Amino acid sequence: MSGPRGKLRKAPVAVIGGSGFIGSNLTDSLLSDGEPVLVIDNLSRPGVEQNLEWLARKHGFHLSVETVDIRDRSSLTAALAPAKAIFHLAAQTAVTTSLVDPTADLDINLKGTFNVLEAARQLGVPVIFASTNKVYGSLPQIAVREADDHYIPCEEGIRANGVAEMIGLDFCTPYGCSKGAADQYVLDYAKSFGLPTAVLRMSCIYGPRQFGTEDQGWVAHFLISVLSGRPITIYGDGKQVRDILHVSDAVAAYRGVLSKVEDVKGQAFNLGGGPRNAVSLRSLLSEIAAMTGRDIVLRHDQQRTGDQPFFVADTRKLEAALGWRAQVPWREGVCDLANWLLRHRLHLPAEAARYVA
Ligand SMILES: NC(=O)c1ccc[n+]([C@@H]2O[C@H](COP(=O)([O-])OP(=O)(O)OC[C@H]3O[C@@H](n4cnc5c(N)ncnc54)[C@H](O)[C@@H]3O)[C@@H](O)[C@H]2O)c1
Repeated sequence: MSGPRGKLRKAPVAVIGGSGFIGSNLTDSLLSDGEPVLVIDNLSRPGVEQNLEWLARKHGFHLSVETVDIRDRSSLTAALAPAKAIFHLAAQTAVTTSLVDPTADLDINLKGTFNVLEAARQLGVPVIFASTNKVYGSLPQIAVREADDHYIPCEEGIRANGVAEMIGLDFCTPYGCSKGAADQYVLDYAKSFGLPTAVLRMSCIYGPRQFGTEDQGWVAHFLISVLSGRPITIYGDGKQVRDILHVSDAVAAYRGVLSKVEDVKGQAFNLGGGPRNAVSLRSLLSEIAAMTGRDIVLRHDQQRTGDQPFFVADTRKLEAALGWRAQVPWREGVCDLANWLLRHRLHLPAEAARYVA
């Protein structure tokens, strides 16, 4: 697909990476409220063309699409020309892939983001950037103790509220470095050029339209594997704790930040499920086994580079700035994703389809 699809009458919001998991949910939400959207994506993530087809079927001419790679600055700048605001979600998204090909990771995540910022600077439009909790590194300063199936932070404040933005940056792995450097560039464009920019440092987001793999999108990957009867490899002991956030809550946060961007410009916020939605890999697997009634075959491998034993976002800064709060409890959200996967057999690998009637 190339060139604009659809004709937009009023200036659109650009969603770069709008065919991806979070981007397509954000695009759907904006379009559903009558906001025209320009999706910019190079469709490099396997499966995401299905998200684009779904958006086009549902929203028709209110959606415009440009198949552009963010590494191509002149094409990107031309494509962004009509935009009144930019959500930037396109990325090389996996730590594992960044260790295999750090050059591509750098080009996409840092230089690509720089290209987005330069285009936004010419246009004078806001940029909201999808960053990651990986900018905080593996957090060796957070002492943890082991319980049966999860790690518990020793410090009471972190147990109660999670990890706040002030913990400090500590880039680790090429992905952590490229996303972290991009995160800092986005914030600096508010300082240096007065551009209204903001950063959301995300924990694990999950939900419909996620093509989760072992490398990225592990909640969907667990469910898809279980539903298709495939084994799951756990790296480390599975006691790692994460706060997971349903994509509808993430979308609400992105839209909230854009609506208040003049108030929050130049700031970074954690975005995750917070302590109420903290779960270990082992607990999530038990829940999925109970929910689906399937047996889970587990394999074990060594802990991955840069893996955090405990990361739960302290989201109080975002809550105070936007009045935002995660609405979907994790069990309900995971059930929603399981149901979506069961309804959309085409999104499962071919061998899985026969297991899900
Ligand atoms: N999903 C999560 O849990 C999570 C957590 C932390 C951060 N993030 C960040 O959020 C953003 C969105 O994540 P997602 O889970 O929706 O990922 P995704 O892979 O589903 O979406 C990313 C989209 O970007 C597109 N893309 C990749 N390289 C591109 C390029 N060079 N030019 C143009 N488009 C390109 C892909 O085709 C894809 O549609 C990413 O920046 C990711 O790093 C996601």
